[in-house]
Amino acid sequence: MNLENTMSQITKEFSDETQRQYQFIENLKIWYNKKTQEIGRTLTACVQCFGCQMNARDAEKITGILEQIGYQMVETEEADFVIYNTCTVRENANLKVYGRLGYLNKLKKKNPHMMIALCGCMMQEQTVVDKIKKSYRYVDIIFGTHNIFKLAELMQARLDSKGMIIDIWKDTTEIVEDLPSERKYRFKAGVNIMFGCNNFCSYCIVPYVRGRERSRNPEDIVKEIKQLVADGVVEIMLLGQNVNSYGKNLENPMTFAELLQEIEKIEGLERIRFMTSHPKDLSDSLIEVMKHSKKICTHLHLPVQSGSSRILKIMNRKYTKEQYLDLVDRIKTAMPEISLTTDIIVGFPGETEEDFEETLDVIRKVKYDSAYTFIYSKRTGTPAASMEEQVDDAVVKERFNRLLKEVQTISAELTKKHENTVQKALVEQINEQDASLVTGRLSNNLLVHFKGCEDLIGKIVDVRLNECKGFYYIGEMV
Ligand code: 5AD
Ligand code: SF4
Repeated sequence: MNLENTMSQITKEFSDETQRQYQFIENLKIWYNKKTQEIGRTLTACVQCFGCQMNARDAEKITGILEQIGYQMVETEEADFVIYNTCTVRENANLKVYGRLGYLNKLKKKNPHMMIALCGCMMQEQTVVDKIKKSYRYVDIIFGTHNIFKLAELMQARLDSKGMIIDIWKDTTEIVEDLPSERKYRFKAGVNIMFGCNNFCSYCIVPYVRGRERSRNPEDIVKEIKQLVADGVVEIMLLGQNVNSYGKNLENPMTFAELLQEIEKIEGLERIRFMTSHPKDLSDSLIEVMKHSKKICTHLHLPVQSGSSRILKIMNRKYTKEQYLDLVDRIKTAMPEISLTTDIIVGFPGETEEDFEETLDVIRKVKYDSAYTFIYSKRTGTPAASMEEQVDDAVVKERFNRLLKEVQTISAELTKKHENTVQKALVEQINEQDASLVTGRLSNNLLVHFKGCEDLIGKIVDVRLNECKGFYYIGEMV
């Protein structure tokens, strides 16, 4: 069965759709109870997430639906329902999924009740779905990034039929609100403010798999955050592929800076984070709002991708090295304490040693607190994939190592600067290595470990940063 949908077919009101999905959940609850009685045990489910923060948030929505049905969530793939929420931004993410599918097949042979579902960005690629249809017949359900809300409906379809259920939408204008969602932490939460991307950076597959930009209504966002706060959340992360272009397609257009001001007013909310910011859309009014905010954290993730204006042009990033550095200057002048992080791609087609030197130059000038460095990965269907001068692997590897060294040296220097200061930390968990310690997150996104107990989790406390350990601290509560 193949339920192909296109944008034009989706005309339902959100609330109708939400109700429809709750009906499927109700039906599945009945099925679940019968099934557990039949086999004499509860059914378990495992959601594995391979991608970014957006994927992690989607995984919470999937978990929310499964928990409503009755599934007991487990960490291991030896479960009755395994869902892989996949990523395709770089090729190694894809390879990982194929590798793991073989293992799932073995598990399924041992457990006749087992179902396997694949969803997320990778499933938005036709070639991937074709390959799974052909070589991985034991997969039960495949769905994409636009129709996660339909999980219960798709499960029902699978139970009613014998074959693989495939439901991939090419794009959508629909945003379905108010479905169940499970949160990984009780004190912090990710909140989607927009979906999709319109930028088409020439190396990037995201616009093809996540569709066009769609912003949620500010009222829905504020309502969700208020509910989260009432539920004990003190820190939120606003999520979008390009948060700085939030609100452009709303019926009543609104800027991201304006949205932040609305969110700032929410009583009980202590910290606001957001990602990701595209430099080309970062406005002066956003800098002003950040500067005067009492809640927005002192951290900005500002992907540069390359320091070479020539490469940036081919990447379709729509800024030059000079414009980026000027933006960083304005940000730092307004907020000297800001911690900047970035994404960098090494080995984009045609990147020369001179281009790479420009990237190193930007790193030295900006002084990032940390940088996510990626080796360019060819993504079929993107303009960069057909560019001729792909850089030799050995050259890329050598540049990557140089870049990493530079980034780490600067990052260690910057981290050291905060040593012996007292800062607020949101306690997130008991330390994984030493149970007498807790781990807290500073406003600038760095971690500090200090003596404390479970009662502190979810609280914001003052901590002296006694010792810098490279990219984290050992501290004490004051
Ligand atoms: N190859 C390598 N890195 C990529 N990114 C996106 N597409 C690619 C690609 N094809 C990186 C960018 C982006 C981050 C999320 O992933 O740096 O900011
Ligand atoms: Fe990809 Fe560029 Fe969109 Fe980011 S802004 S998701 S890098 S196309």
